[in-house]
Amino acid sequence: MWTCVLLRKPFLYVNIHLFPKLARNHTCTLMAQKRNQTSVLKNSWTLHTTWFRGMADLIQDNATLSHSKSRKSKGSWSFPVLDGSIHPEQIDTIEANLRNSEACIQRYLELLGKVYQREERDILRHTQDNHKLLVRDRLRLVLDNDDDFFELSPLAGYDLPYGTISNAGCLTGIGKICGMWCMLIANDATVKGGTFYPITVKKQLRAQNIAIMNRLPTVYLVDSGGAFLPLQAEIFPDQYHGGRVFYNIALMSSMKIPQVAVVCGSCVAGAAYCPSMVDESIIIDNIGSMFLAGPPLVKAATGEDISVEELGGAIVHSRVSGGVDYITSTEEEAYERVRNVAMTFNCGQCPGESVKYDEPLYSPEELKNLAPQNYECSLDVKLILSRLFDGSRFQEFKAEYGTTLVTGFAHVKGHLIGLVASNGELTHQASLKGSNFVNLCSHRNIPILFLLNTVPKASQCTSLAQAEDLGRRFKAQACMMATIACAEVPKITLVIGGCFGNDSYAMCGRSFDPNFLFLWPNARVALVDCRSPFADFLEEDENFCMDKSTLKNLEKKLENESTAFYSSARLWDDGVILPQNSREVIAKCLAIIKQKESQTLTRQQQPILRM
Ligand code: COA
Repeated sequence: MWTCVLLRKPFLYVNIHLFPKLARNHTCTLMAQKRNQTSVLKNSWTLHTTWFRGMADLIQDNATLSHSKSRKSKGSWSFPVLDGSIHPEQIDTIEANLRNSEACIQRYLELLGKVYQREERDILRHTQDNHKLLVRDRLRLVLDNDDDFFELSPLAGYDLPYGTISNAGCLTGIGKICGMWCMLIANDATVKGGTFYPITVKKQLRAQNIAIMNRLPTVYLVDSGGAFLPLQAEIFPDQYHGGRVFYNIALMSSMKIPQVAVVCGSCVAGAAYCPSMVDESIIIDNIGSMFLAGPPLVKAATGEDISVEELGGAIVHSRVSGGVDYITSTEEEAYERVRNVAMTFNCGQCPGESVKYDEPLYSPEELKNLAPQNYECSLDVKLILSRLFDGSRFQEFKAEYGTTLVTGFAHVKGHLIGLVASNGELTHQASLKGSNFVNLCSHRNIPILFLLNTVPKASQCTSLAQAEDLGRRFKAQACMMATIACAEVPKITLVIGGCFGNDSYAMCGRSFDPNFLFLWPNARVALVDCRSPFADFLEEDENFCMDKSTLKNLEKKLENESTAFYSSARLWDDGVILPQNSREVIAKCLAIIKQKESQTLTRQQQPILRM
């Protein structure tokens, strides 16, 4: 063992009572030196050696020494293959799920269509009166390949109490610039002059948060009239309101996360701070302007008539104030300049993506059939796993213990992950196993994927034995929550069914800060599932007095408030994704997360202080 420690090699203990023959050949410590070592094992131990090989490979795969090399195809000796076949008795459930999925997906596509639509007069004002490019065309010019662009939370802003704010008035997403994954935050001035609504602030803060967690260089395309004044009380004063955007810019700078801004329209009031605080900023002549108060306010305050260009145009800021670093004569030139600036970030290269992997043996298209319409329609989660993982292979951890939670290791497009998936109630045993497994992944620095589908109804307690069981369960869940909160590994959460009540905290829900959180369109997010069992649940409670019609109204309200779309409109997640695209999305997140490993820069005390 000490040899292993000194050589920084992984080692495996072998129980000599369980494996006497193995022990004769190897002594009780087996150095896990990839597959050639296991060849000395006897044929009769094929089963065990397969397991050891899988584990050895898993440990070596994640060892820091090997992360920059391209992975080998796992071949036939990797993790065991899952049986993902559907049995005749499951057909009815599958059909019910599929009908529900198709309805949810159609609704999702309709909503997307709505939030992408803009009024014609807003487009004309933007493109013809103000001579500006539309925000998606701007992104196209900045990115290496806009097909790669991974848009976050497009439904944010839909049907809020203060109206529908399309795309929350600001596009955010991750795309490649000069081969590097970067966060892009771009105001859309066709939505009320790009002004900041409360949801715009929230979306921008979430994008910065993702950039911080994953150390993503960030590009801001600023075109905004500042705060949407009628809602100033919900944008300005509080900790996570507008000022937090600028606070984050400073923190990101001190963490050496490169940031660059383009002033590609009016940057009024608060919007002017962003280009003034990032590492480098670019302004477009006759299009970009920056000031704390525009010409109408100057007129009102001083009686002086002054033009936008004189007050804070490109010439003023590049020649007089020195507030920007580059001036360009066209938008195209400005986005080319962003790419030139990105070439100077000097923060390490994106790891190559020459990874070989096997596709799942079962089509990811079939995930639609497995997305549960409700908890009763949940099938064994391993059917889902067999359609997500490379070669449908999965190394299950503690398969016989706490079976309502499935844990284990797998690869998604060549990326090793630890999996924690709901497969029933999060019992005492399941929670203990969950803590154990998360802790293991954390020690080995393996990203964790949570597949969340929690029980819709709080457990009832009618006997002492049940009370004791619940007490044990709560303690174990609290332990799992603490382990997840403190696990210093990237986490991705995918809500595949219900995200209900306390169990969802222990499965890395939003408040547990996963690097990314997505929902399937069928997902429900609420304290309890208000569909049929809800009324029974409340009626059973003697202390709860509410007349039938009030109860019905409450049920209706909660039903509406628990859809995936309601959640996504409020940014409780990073977007709704289609079940059949999950493998792609998870792989992309893992590639983005991995970029940080190749970065050489360390934190410094001070942000970049511009002149
Ligand atoms: N709050 C609320 N609404 C605003 C707004 C603000 N800060 N800034 C612009 N709007 C609205 C306009 O009323 C208009 O609404 P409409 O579409 O219903 O007519 C829409 O946004 C577009 O504004 P418009 O002036 O027609 O477009 P533009 O492209 O010519 O100019 C701005 C855009 C942002 C440069 C200009 O509207 C402006 O200077 N606004 C004031 C900015 C300001 O003083 N902000 C201070 C915030 S603390």
